[in-house]
Amino acid sequence: MQEKTQSCPFHAIHNIKEFDALDSVARENPWPYSDWLRAGADRRVYKLPQEDTIYLLHRFDDVKAALTDADTFSNKIIPTVKSPFFALTDGKDHQRIRSIIATFFTPNNLQKREADVQQIVQEATENLLQKGQCELFENWAVPIPLGVLASMFGLPGHEASIAKYHHHAVAINRALFVTGGTGPRRSEEPTVAEKAAISFAIFKNIPRFIKLWKMVGNKGMAELKTMVQFARKDLATPRPNFEHIPAGLGPLLELMLLFLEKLKTHKNKDGTDGSDVIATLNFYQKKGDISLVEAMMAGAFILFAGHETVTSLLSNCFVHLARNPATFQELKAEPGLIENFVEEMLRFYTPVGRFLRRTTRAVELNGQRIPKDAIVILMLGAANTDAERFENGCVFDPGRKNARQHLAFGKGVHFCIGATLARMQAVAALKALVGRASSIAVDETKPLKMVTDRDNGIFRYEELKVVVK
Ligand code: HEM
Repeated sequence: MQEKTQSCPFHAIHNIKEFDALDSVARENPWPYSDWLRAGADRRVYKLPQEDTIYLLHRFDDVKAALTDADTFSNKIIPTVKSPFFALTDGKDHQRIRSIIATFFTPNNLQKREADVQQIVQEATENLLQKGQCELFENWAVPIPLGVLASMFGLPGHEASIAKYHHHAVAINRALFVTGGTGPRRSEEPTVAEKAAISFAIFKNIPRFIKLWKMVGNKGMAELKTMVQFARKDLATPRPNFEHIPAGLGPLLELMLLFLEKLKTHKNKDGTDGSDVIATLNFYQKKGDISLVEAMMAGAFILFAGHETVTSLLSNCFVHLARNPATFQELKAEPGLIENFVEEMLRFYTPVGRFLRRTTRAVELNGQRIPKDAIVILMLGAANTDAERFENGCVFDPGRKNARQHLAFGKGVHFCIGATLARMQAVAALKALVGRASSIAVDETKPLKMVTDRDNGIFRYEELKVVVK
């Protein structure tokens, strides 16, 4: 392919003196910060300024090594008695639930899902073309992944439901990282106003709590309590952000109830092979391999793990192609190039730029020490542009041979369980787009705003007004 974007797509930043990765500063323009981190040998392990226990790893080999050493770099970042989400824990509990969920994503079950994915993609792309001038997230980048997830879980997939899941998932994502959060530096305790807002939100949600209690019983409520109860109070949590909790509580409870209702009313189907997600969760629940509360939380987790990630990838592909019309035409002429293009997109515009880990022991790297119980931010985006692994890593090269070696889906025991489904959606969506549209454009008359309030470093724009012909 011809195109090689010769420099990072955003402006260069000079005189970087320090990097507060938890602030929103590098969200819009991470590349110069990644370059700066790599430029100093003493920054190989980088301690965040003004933080005692937060470190960064950013080189490809270091990030990959940390991802594959779950014993040392633990996913149990939130020190509650029991993890609220299976992905935020390690060891037997993680393996037990992951092995059930993995049955939804076997090659056989993904093959069965492909016709659904194609139909959802075709409908969304047709809608985009018919509108011609519209907002991309609302009409394409959100309905595709949420349509696929709704179909997977047997949830309503019409427009109003999709808008509701999107709203809820975003509100939860904002609120979720209260204990592993990012944003400007702030106190570890909620302010009086935040405490009052949280109490009011709890009060307002009493009817939902009662409904939940009726459905999961005392045992389920006790289990839920262990998921919010801290086992260790001595562990510092990075930048807890209490501001978004009130707005996230109602949506989280609603999604939990939605999955509970599905689990309770869908009991008699055969769930042995993973092709029906809810039936499978029920099957393993009856066997005693997963509790009702764990099944409900797994459903809710997959809904937000499989949504904004794919939305980010799809929208970034659109923007890149709109800015590089020659590449758009090349993909149109040769759709076989789309698969590698998607891999380069995942590498260069890593949809989730960072993941957190907590050290279970002290680690020494390059003579630099990370203490036990420290938070380590694994900079997936920076690792993916490391020139040691990817020649001219800060150059977007759609024909790059080793693009697929990126870490955008993680590595090791927590490797993204939905990676194949995500790739399937992106390839289908781009094939439909370049196949049907003759040209695409993004309205950049006003500066585009990046999302900066999702703590996992999701890399996407807030809103995109587009023209598709
Ligand atoms: C472009 C899209 C996606 C990206 C970039 C992405 C990225 C990731 C990454 C980096 C991880 C590893 C997290 C860690 O190491 O702690 C992960 C885990 C996970 N992903 Fe994805 N993901 C995407 C799409 C999906 C989809 C479509 C689904 C499901 C429908 C999904 C479900 C999950 C789940 C359940 C986990 C947790 C796995 C575990 O901890 O064992 N993801 N994802």
